[in-house]
Amino acid sequence: MAGRRHHALLVLAAVVSTSCSLLGAHLMRPGEQEEAIPVIPDMMMRPQHIPVPAVPTRTVAEICRGTSFPELCTATAGKQAARYGTVDVLTVLQMQVDALGERTKAARARVDREAAAATPAGRKALHQCNSFYGDVMDNLDACRRAIGHKDAVTIRSTMSMVAQDLQFCDEEFRKAGEKNPLQQFDQSLGNMSEICRSLSNMIVVD
Ligand SMILES: *[C@@H]1O[C@H](CO)[C@@H](O)[C@H](O)[C@H]1NC(C)=O
Repeated sequence: MAGRRHHALLVLAAVVSTSCSLLGAHLMRPGEQEEAIPVIPDMMMRPQHIPVPAVPTRTVAEICRGTSFPELCTATAGKQAARYGTVDVLTVLQMQVDALGERTKAARARVDREAAAATPAGRKALHQCNSFYGDVMDNLDACRRAIGHKDAVTIRSTMSMVAQDLQFCDEEFRKAGEKNPLQQFDQSLGNMSEICRSLSNMIVVD
């Protein structure tokens, strides 16, 4: 009995000493350590003279993960992220509002192009949508001011009005009995306004 326990201890000691020497050899091997610690971000390992992006897009993605359309949010912010020094909920919100403004301008340009070939009813609907888009632009300005004040309630109400304007535009075409040629715009703008609503819920007021 005693002999068997002694034998077991010897085996254990041998295993421990073998693993320790393996571990020691592993740590001492040059170049191994970097591969052994995968959590160090690549940018921290880079020499100083190589410029790194001011904003790791990972952070934008992390913020966007909490919104209703994470991929759309990240793609939208990604184009602008480099202009911002730090990325937080408010800056991502600004990026989304700026992108909403750009997309709304594109929608208005589309209105002009569609109007030429439209039926009288279609042209009337396009004209109405154009004025709704004007409303959207006003609400985006109000939203920008609200972001400056970290005023989540006002941000949400401006975004509700934006979403409503987009629905009104859709309704104009339904009333006219025509397919809405701006539907893609209205959908993506609506989704972007949802992203802004989600982001407004994440604002921390200190
Ligand atoms: C907007 O969101 C809806 C789901 O609510 C989705 O079906 C649609 O593809 C999205 N459209 C755009 C243009 O992002």
